[in-house]
Amino acid sequence: MPTTQRITSPQAAAEILRSGGLVAFPTETVFGLGADATNPAAVERLFEAKGRPGDNPLIVHVPTVQHWSLAASELTPSAKALLAAFAPGPLTVVLPKRPEVSPRVTAGLTTVGVRVPHHPVAAEILRLAGAPIAAPSANRSGRPSGTTWRAVLEDLDGLVDAVYCEDGVPIGIESTVVDCCGPVPIVLRLGAITIEQIRTIEPEAHVQATFAARGDVPVASPGLRHPHYQPRASVRLFTTAAELALPTDERLAYCGLEPLPGRIDAALEKVFPSLEAYAAGFYEFLREADRQAATLILVQRAPSEGIGAALQDRQRRAAGK
Ligand code: TXA
Ligand code: MG
Repeated sequence: MPTTQRITSPQAAAEILRSGGLVAFPTETVFGLGADATNPAAVERLFEAKGRPGDNPLIVHVPTVQHWSLAASELTPSAKALLAAFAPGPLTVVLPKRPEVSPRVTAGLTTVGVRVPHHPVAAEILRLAGAPIAAPSANRSGRPSGTTWRAVLEDLDGLVDAVYCEDGVPIGIESTVVDCCGPVPIVLRLGAITIEQIRTIEPEAHVQATFAARGDVPVASPGLRHPHYQPRASVRLFTTAAELALPTDERLAYCGLEPLPGRIDAALEKVFPSLEAYAAGFYEFLREADRQAATLILVQRAPSEGIGAALQDRQRRAAGK
C-alpha cells in the first residue's frame, strides 16, 4: 500500500504519472485521479484504487485541443466544432479510439472520451506528463465526487501515490460527455456545458433518450448504469418546503436555495446563495453530512435551467433514483 504524498508541484505530479503512478489533481469540474493511459499496469491500479467496475470507461485528458490525436484516431467534424467552442473546458467528446490507448481505459469500447481541462494546474501537469492521462473523478466508486483535496484523501489516502493539495474546483459537477462519433452529437452525461450551449454549435444535438439508465436497454455511456454520488445517509429530494413531512427519528441535514422552514430542525443546514454555488458545493455538502453522521439528507431539487439540469441529474443519482 503506497504512502500518499501531499504535493503542490506540477513537476512532481508529472514525474509520478510518467513512472506509472497515480496522482489526484484539481480540474475545473472535480478532482481527477490520473494514470498514464498508455500504461496498462497503471490503469489497472487506478481501477483497483477506485474500486471501479471494469465495464465503466475512463476519460482521457490531454493538454491542448491540438493533442486530441494522443487519444483518438479521428477528429470528427462535430467534435472539432464543439472543441473549438468549449475547449479547454468542461466538455468530453467521445471519438474513435487510437490503438495506443490501453483497452482497459475504454472498457473494451472502440471509442474514447477526450477532455482538455482549462484548470491551470491540470493543464500544466498534462503538459509536463507528455502522455494522455486517464482520469476519472477522484473518489471511491459510488461516492460523491471529490471537490476538495481533503475529500480526496478521505477516500483514497493510502491507495494512490499522491494528491495535489490545492483547492479551487470552480464548477463542482463533472464535464458534459458528448458522443461525436455519429451523424449527430448525443449528450451522454449532462454537465457544465448545457444542451442549449451545445445546440448553438450543433443544432441537431440531443440528450440520449435512455439517459435515465435502464437495465433493459443498451446504454452508450456504461458508467450511467452504476450507483453514483451516494453518501452513507439516505437522500430525499423535494421541490417546495410544503412537501416536507417531519421525520422525528432522523438526524437531519438540509441543503437548498431556500432556508429550511422554521418548523423543521436540522443538525446541518446549508443554503446556497446561487445555483452555481449549489452545484459547486453539492458533493462536499453530502460528504459533510456523512462526517456529521446525518441519517437523512433533505435536498431541494435544483431548477432545471443552466447548470441546474446537470445538478438535478446528480441529485437524482445521489438519491439512488
Ligand atoms: O469532469 C470530468 O469529466 C471528470 C474530471 C476529472 O475530468 N472526470 C470524470 O470521470 O467525471 P468519470 O470516470 O467519473 O466519468 C466518466 C464518464 C462515465 O459516465 C463514463 O461512462 C463516460 O464518461 N465515458 C467515458 N468514456 C466513454 C466512452 N468511450 N463512451 C461513452 N461514455 C464514456
Ligand atoms: Mg465519477
